[in-house]
Amino acid sequence: MRLPGLPRFPLAQLPTPLVPAKNLTALLGGPQILIKRDDLTGLALGGNKTRKLEYLIADAQSRGATHVITMGSVQSNHCRQTAAACRLAGLNCVLVLNAPNDDPEIQGNFLLDHMLGAEPRIIQDKSRRMAEAEKVAEELTSQGHVPYIIPTGGSNPIGSSAYVAFSYELMNQLIEQGINATRLYAAAGGPGGTHAGLCLGQKVTNAPWKVQGISTEDPEDNIRRINSTLANETASYLGLDLRLGEDDIHVDVGYTGAGYGVPTDECLEAIKLLAQTEGLFLDPVYTGKTMAGLIDHIRKGEIGEDETVIFLHTGGAPSLFAEPKTILSAL
Ligand SMILES: Cc1ncc(COP(=O)(O)O)c(C=O)c1O
Repeated sequence: MRLPGLPRFPLAQLPTPLVPAKNLTALLGGPQILIKRDDLTGLALGGNKTRKLEYLIADAQSRGATHVITMGSVQSNHCRQTAAACRLAGLNCVLVLNAPNDDPEIQGNFLLDHMLGAEPRIIQDKSRRMAEAEKVAEELTSQGHVPYIIPTGGSNPIGSSAYVAFSYELMNQLIEQGINATRLYAAAGGPGGTHAGLCLGQKVTNAPWKVQGISTEDPEDNIRRINSTLANETASYLGLDLRLGEDDIHVDVGYTGAGYGVPTDECLEAIKLLAQTEGLFLDPVYTGKTMAGLIDHIRKGEIGEDETVIFLHTGGAPSLFAEPKTILSAL
């Protein structure tokens, strides 16, 4: 397997802590919940993208890049972390951001993008993100620069490899702490580089946990198809003789609500609950919905009281500041 030899640009503080959520566990009456704190990866307020960027930035450097171009919504956590990673690597950063209007309010992640000196390109049509990134790349190339495009969320085989490496990290922590975890909950979109990497990582490490994705946007068949394809492309990239079928991708689409980025009541309840039991901030787009799924599965008795469940906290708290009224309404 190529994973140990892959070039990595150091960005993350690893391993991230694995912390028992004692108050939440007591409140729900079991199972034992542990939180894997990838919100504490350490780069510019942290998050899951930092792990992926270690591999992506190293790849950009190996190709002689001068500029990184990436894309997302105006409150993208991925874009904020990419902008910070570029600063550390001495690269310029252009962010193609979709927003409801041409002049979005400068707050949350978008404020941090400005502070990090990234160049924003605002568009309104989300489906034009890659076309706009390619246009920027052409402009830069014609000026003698070397652009490197990172797709939305860093969700390609290079980025997903980070969550195969993560699976080894988690496995080692559990062995050290003498814990046997039966489930791992994580946000899942399509393409969801983190979810795909986790599903592959579970197979490669032969881990005892079931990876349970909670959808943040896409319908079930899309996520299963897209993420199994990405997991298999990642396996090929890593030189692994392993293939996943769509049935290996577990995702519950019951907690998405009206759509991507639109918080549900259960998501807001989960955000409040985690703040007030564990002193911990979830976000309204990904981790709030994922925790809502976990809580509901526990309340419905789908998880045994004697099981141990890991919740992957992928970060995203800066986007809370873009939604103060919505968050307040739930308190
Ligand atoms: C906080 C947070 N959690 C989860 C995700 C999903 O990660 P991925 O696209 O790597 O599956 C994202 C992606 O932007 C995120 O910002």
